[in-house]
This record gives sequence, structure tokens and C-alpha cells, in this order.
Amino acid sequence: MEKITEAGGKAIAVGCDVSDAEQVEAAVARVAEELGAPTILVNNAGVLRDNLLFKMSESDWDTVLNVHLRGAFLMSRACQKHMVDAGFGRIVNLSSSSALGNRGQVNYSAAKAGVQGFTKTLAIELGKFGVTANAVAPGFIATDMTAATAERVGMGFEDFQKAAASQIPVQRVGEPADIANAIAFFTGEAAGFVSGQVLYVAGGPLN
Ligand SMILES: NC(=O)c1ccc[n+]([C@@H]2O[C@H](COP(=O)([O-])OP(=O)(O)OC[C@H]3O[C@@H](n4cnc5c(N)ncnc54)[C@H](O)[C@@H]3O)[C@@H](O)[C@H]2O)c1
Repeated sequence: MEKITEAGGKAIAVGCDVSDAEQVEAAVARVAEELGAPTILVNNAGVLRDNLLFKMSESDWDTVLNVHLRGAFLMSRACQKHMVDAGFGRIVNLSSSSALGNRGQVNYSAAKAGVQGFTKTLAIELGKFGVTANAVAPGFIATDMTAATAERVGMGFEDFQKAAASQIPVQRVGEPADIANAIAFFTGEAAGFVSGQVLYVAGGPLN
């Protein structure tokens, strides 16, 4: 927030549970009131509840699907009316390389694959209103989320990152800035003819 205000912008932080429709409506209304129409939306909220299928509880399934998929749906629905009125909008949804399948993540991979279908349909429905929708699908990025995974599998975060980097063609793990740069491309005015795409940002191709 400080960086934004230092650069001459205006910023507020509004907390909400993205899986709760009422909280989402209230948060988006407050942003619209204080900052003007939200015409850029990045659906980034996420949680992990990893487990092998036979050990996965219904609540672990529901929590992950609710935050990633229902959250992206509720936020997009709340923001689209402002974007449609403005005749301009940019929605970027966070998918993941796990959308292609990842052991221990039936819930997360289903949500992140769902995000891709959701994104393509948003692109089709909202294109005529000047709104684009794209997905960024990160590989391994060093954040609290991957630090928590390292802890769960009983490895130090440094060693966990080293092991991941050795499997990545560019031989390093990603940084949050790698993802922010990709999102900045999609949210820019210049990307108005790019919609419904999924960009893997993973230091190499994925298959
Ligand atoms: N880190 C990676 O390697 C990686 C890889 C692929 C995709 N992603 C995705 O990128 C996004 C960001 O992940 P991250 O690594 O920064 O994770 P993170 O755990 O560091 O941050 C996730 C954020 O989501 C917020 N959040 C969780 N539940 C929420 C809810 N119900 N309502 C509102 N906010 C909620 C948390 O408070 C936290 O600030 C997520 O969608 C994640 O699935 C991350």
C-alpha cells in the first residue's frame, strides 16, 4: 500500500472471505465507493488442504473448491457489473501447474483446472463489453504456501526450493515478481486482444 501511495496512487485494504457472497458484495461495494469502479480483478486467494484421495476429507475438498473456484466466481460476478458499465475490464485468475495433475492434490488440481474453464467462459461472455479474462498458472513460487508445503513434508524450505529448482529448466524457483509481471501484462490496456488464455509461468514447458 505504501508503494502505491508513494507512487502517487490511492490504495485501501479491504479484507473479506472470498467464498462468502455477502462479504464479497460488501467488499466490492466499498472499493467502488472509495476508489471508483473496480475494473481490474486478480483472483489470487488460495489455500491448500493436500492429502491422498483415500485420506481426503469432505471438508478439505469443500474448503479448497470454495476458496479457489467459488471465490473466483463470486468476486468476478460482483466486479463484472462495474466493468460492463465502464466498458473496460481485466480479470486474471490464478490457476496452477497442478491443474495438469499433482499427487496429493485432487481438490486443488480440480479447482485449478476448473479455474481454466471458468476463465475461458468469462472471456466468451464478457468480451463484447471490453472485458478480458485470462489465467496465470504458476509452477513453483517461493511463498508462504510453498513454505507450508515444505514443513508438511518435513523438509527445510531452502532444501525444498533446491530440490524443486533442479527439476525446473531455468534451474531456479519462481519469485512472486515473476507472477506479478505476467499478471501486469494481462491487465494492461495493450493486452485487449488477448483473452481466454492460460499462461504457464513455470520456468519451462509443462506437459
Ligand atoms: N506458491 C506457488 O508455488 C503457487 C503455485 C501455483 C499457484 N499458486 C496460486 O497462487 C495464488 C497465491 O498463492 P501464494 O503462494 O501467494 O499463497 P499464500 O498462502 O502465500 O497466500 C494466499 C493468500 O490467500 C488468502 N486467502 C486464503 N483464503 C482466503 C479466503 N477465503 N478469502 C480471502 N483470502 C483468502 C490468504 O490470506 C493469503 O493471503 C493462489 O491462488 C495459489 O493457489 C501458487
